[in-house]
Amino acid sequence: MRCDAINSDLATFNGSMGQYKIVKTKDQSYTVFSEAYNEACHSLDGAWDETLFNYLEGCSIPEKSERLGEKALSVLEVGFGLGVGLQVVSDFYEKKEVKKSFVFTSLEIDQGLVEWTIDNWPPSIPPLKGSFQKTGGLDYFNGNCGLGKVNILIGDARKTLKKASKLGMIPALDAVFQDPFSPKRNPSLWTVEWFEVLKKASSPEVTLSTYSSSTSVRKSLQAAGWFMRNAPGFSSKRTSTRAFLKGPSDPEVIDKLKRAPINPLRDKDNET
Ligand SMILES: C[S@@+](CC[C@H](N)C(=O)[O-])C[C@H]1O[C@@H](n2cnc3c(N)ncnc32)[C@H](O)[C@@H]1O
Repeated sequence: MRCDAINSDLATFNGSMGQYKIVKTKDQSYTVFSEAYNEACHSLDGAWDETLFNYLEGCSIPEKSERLGEKALSVLEVGFGLGVGLQVVSDFYEKKEVKKSFVFTSLEIDQGLVEWTIDNWPPSIPPLKGSFQKTGGLDYFNGNCGLGKVNILIGDARKTLKKASKLGMIPALDAVFQDPFSPKRNPSLWTVEWFEVLKKASSPEVTLSTYSSSTSVRKSLQAAGWFMRNAPGFSSKRTSTRAFLKGPSDPEVIDKLKRAPINPLRDKDNET
């Protein structure tokens, strides 16, 4: 399954946060390069394959959906981007023999990018249908994609997730796809405070998966009360991180953190 609807002849388009350049990746699926963050949304070795590896498999979605029985799996994605996270999850549920539902909440600062992504949704994936709405000062897209109930919260994730949680819009999270741009380009979504917000929104059985294995990110997760395990990285990346609310952490991860003279990332370090 590939993100085959995108017309790469378009080459570039404008979102609310600046220009995006469409780039075909090695597995024939597409990503975009963001001018505002000076970074691509996915690995150029394969947007679809990376998403399968880091998030569907990284968060053990197949096993979790079995274990939950009748209950709908609750996924949070940090950064909607081109919607590949939702496409991969929807495609997985579509192909399951026993039909089950899921709840997919995504956080996206760029409404123009969300609109473009919905307009360019691949035909091979169930359509993403719904409308933009406003409740309690929160702007969001509410709809459905195949067997999934979808909410895309528009605005800064640090505000929208707290608002939506207060409004009771997010079932306790079973899986978190931690996929904002890199800590270097977007440090505000890799801090102790951010991982505390995610912890509060999660079920005790949650798995958080991220491609990052940086020491400062792991220190932030640790300071926020997450336990960590090493996982293989996608393509040429050696390692990535899985985090849980139940321990223990991998001893080698903890040993390495103890020895590293690096501080966790804090909100106050990002204030200008
Ligand atoms: C790496 S891309 C996400 C790719 C996406 N998961 C996919 O599969 O297509 C990161 C996304 O995070 C969004 N983002 C960055 N900072 C944000 C913030 N503070 N709040 C909400 N979204 C943010 C960016 O606009 C971008 O679309």
